[in-house]
Amino acid sequence: MALFKPKTELAEVDFDRLPRHVAIIMDGNGRWAKRRGLPRTAGHAAGAETFRTIATYCQKIGLEYLTVYAFSTENWKRPMEEVSAIIGLLKKYLLESIEKMEKDKIRLHFFGDLDALPPELRELTVRTDDISTRYEGMQVNVCFNYGGRDEIVRAARAFAADCLAGKRSPEELTEETFSNYLYSAGVPDPDLVIRPSGELRISNFLLWQSAYAEFYYTDVLWPDFSKEELHKALAAYQSRSRRFGGV
Ligand code: FPP
Repeated sequence: MALFKPKTELAEVDFDRLPRHVAIIMDGNGRWAKRRGLPRTAGHAAGAETFRTIATYCQKIGLEYLTVYAFSTENWKRPMEEVSAIIGLLKKYLLESIEKMEKDKIRLHFFGDLDALPPELRELTVRTDDISTRYEGMQVNVCFNYGGRDEIVRAARAFAADCLAGKRSPEELTEETFSNYLYSAGVPDPDLVIRPSGELRISNFLLWQSAYAEFYYTDVLWPDFSKEELHKALAAYQSRSRRFGGV
């Protein structure tokens, strides 16, 4: 039973039937800034604020898992200032959220190869991981230096290494065993994947995990994505019939 049932204006949402796990590709920050004559980095700053608003709201309505795509393995190709700005925003956000995690009992995890991050940022992710072990509230997963194919290759490599070390044998490899080698080990697959900004692509996001996810696309740019937009996505999800390959 949902504890908080807000009034919705644009869409009917049944807050007792929410998806367990929502994943979002936070797209459109650059275009949002361009339309206002601002640098792209201003779009990312606005996108980080939207992330904070939406994550806080998801926790309030009782969502169990929220996964966001913040930086892909391909995003390093962007100009240095833009990459540094995104890393700076993540650092600012992490510092601020440590306090919030304690207060709201939120768990924060990272999916991606964090070795490429500056040491002080890696240290912060270790701290948030540590805090997360103490709580059982909503889990937020931030995909950073993340790529779906890269995640699958890493998992395959780790399984092969375990076989060579005699800890596993090839016959043991099932979908379930394999899932436990992914960054998302232990996290249920996303039920709903939202992509704002009018792009109709998956862009290497949660390739394995979104096998049976429902997709919701909207033209709204991520910095403009509001609670009402989330309601529309949730209502669309609730109107669909999920058959997982059955009838
Ligand atoms: C995609 O928009 C967005 C990104 C590559 C970066 C997203 C980063 C943040 C929202 C801020 C940091 C994250 C956290 C969790 C605090 P785009 O730049 O590709 O937009 P465009 O397609 O309009 O150019």
